[in-house]
Amino acid sequence: MYKVIVIRVCDKEFINYSYAIYNDEGTGILVDPAWETEKILSTVDEIQLDIKAILVTHEHIDHTNLAEYTSAYYDAPIYISAEAKQFSNINSKRLMFINDETPLLIDKLTIKPLLTPGHTKGCISYLINENLFSGDTLFIEGCGMCTDSSSSPHELFNSLRRLVDIIPLSTKIYPGHRYHAEVGQEFSYVLNNNIYLNITNEEDFIKFRMRNGQKGLMDFI
Ligand SMILES: [Fe+2]
Repeated sequence: MYKVIVIRVCDKEFINYSYAIYNDEGTGILVDPAWETEKILSTVDEIQLDIKAILVTHEHIDHTNLAEYTSAYYDAPIYISAEAKQFSNINSKRLMFINDETPLLIDKLTIKPLLTPGHTKGCISYLINENLFSGDTLFIEGCGMCTDSSSSPHELFNSLRRLVDIIPLSTKIYPGHRYHAEVGQEFSYVLNNNIYLNITNEEDFIKFRMRNGQKGLMDFI
C-alpha cells in the first residue's frame, strides 16, 4: 500500500506541489522538492519516513530548488533525465541519470519513469503504483506551456497521447502545479476535464497550445 502526501510550497510568485510517497514500511521518495525546506523536512519527520530517493520531473528551478539540499540531508540519490541535467544547475555527486524507461527499484518501491518530452525536452513523469507524478507535462486542468528553448508542442502532443493510451483510468494524477482542481484526481476525471487530452488532431493541438493571449505562466493556486 502506497500513500502520497501533498506538500504545497511557495516562493514569491511561485506555487508548486512537491510530494512524498511512501510504503507501509515507511520507505519514502520525494518528488520535486522546492522552496520550503522546513515544511518538507517536518512533513517527512512527522511520519518518520526514510527517504531513499529524490525524483525530479524536469530542470526548471521551481522543481529542482531543494533537490540538492534534500539529497544531501537524507543521503539519497537524485534522479533526473540526462536531457534535463544539461539545462539544470543541480550539482551533486548523488546524481543519477535516466535515459530510458527501465523501472527503478528503490528498496521495495518500483518506479516506472515515462519519458514525456514537450514542456521541456527532458521531462519525465513517474508512475509509482497507481500514482502518476506528472510535473509540468500534465496538469489536472491543462498541460505545461511550450515556451522553453527545448520545448516542443509536437512532442508534448505525442507525450499526452501516449499517457492517454497507457495510464489506467483509476491512476491518481499529481502534477507540479494546479489551477482550480485539487491534485490527486483520478485519470478518468482528468480525461473528462482537460481539453488538451481531448484534442486528438496534432495540428489543432499545436495551434491551441501555442495560441496568443494565454494566461500568465505563474497563474497557479
Ligand atoms: Fe516547468
